[in-house]
Amino acid sequence: MRIDIVSIFPDYLAPLELSLPGKARDKGLLDIAVHDLRRWTYDRHRTVDDTPYGGGAGMVMKPEPWGEALDELTADSTPTIIFTTPSGEPFTQKVARELSTEQHLVFACGRYEGIDQRVIDHASQWGRVRETSLGDYVLNGGEVAALAVTEAVVRLLPGFMGNPDSLVEESHEDGLLEYPVYTKPAAWRGHEVPAVLMSGNHGAIAAWRHEQRVERTARRRPDLVHASHLDEQSSVRVAT
Ligand code: ADE
Repeated sequence: MRIDIVSIFPDYLAPLELSLPGKARDKGLLDIAVHDLRRWTYDRHRTVDDTPYGGGAGMVMKPEPWGEALDELTADSTPTIIFTTPSGEPFTQKVARELSTEQHLVFACGRYEGIDQRVIDHASQWGRVRETSLGDYVLNGGEVAALAVTEAVVRLLPGFMGNPDSLVEESHEDGLLEYPVYTKPAAWRGHEVPAVLMSGNHGAIAAWRHEQRVERTARRRPDLVHASHLDEQSSVRVAT
């Protein structure tokens, strides 16, 4: 997979050199590059923003640098272009799975009040377009969202995980949150590991874990629980 990220704060994306994407790069699964949007400016101040038509607070990112950046980065492929914005569709594990099958992703990280809408309207000429939000809160720019999306996607690339089974039981993979986990010692500061986990009874352990997942999800994220998650073994009742 190739990933290009365009930002006016390329240093913000330095963590991509570390740990996970770095590991994917070493394995030859990922080719990732960060680009400074100001590379596509030509005035003395390397201007990327201007005042909004119609008035209002803040500044808007000018279309010309984005146009040239996206012309160049899509010259020899038809990528998925991701505009990170609080006005986008929510980023979920499902979206991460979809993106993990792509050959080329280009992230356009907006700042200020956003990017001139004509860039987004024009973007279908460069590739598939997604406007993606990390959640219902406002960050100072799209860089943290690009980092989060990259991390969630890269760990799904085939061949990235040493043990792909560890992806199967994770929170959100099947719509439920994960069960609680424990390791040694069996007792710590007066807290005991649940006895069932030390019983050696694999059926009982699986049933307990499922029940924990449903109970946790019902309590923390009732919006995620479906009737199909409840089976005869589960004593959890969810208000409907
Ligand atoms: N830029 C600012 N806030 C954002 C958010 N919540 N998600 C994605 N990009 C953003």
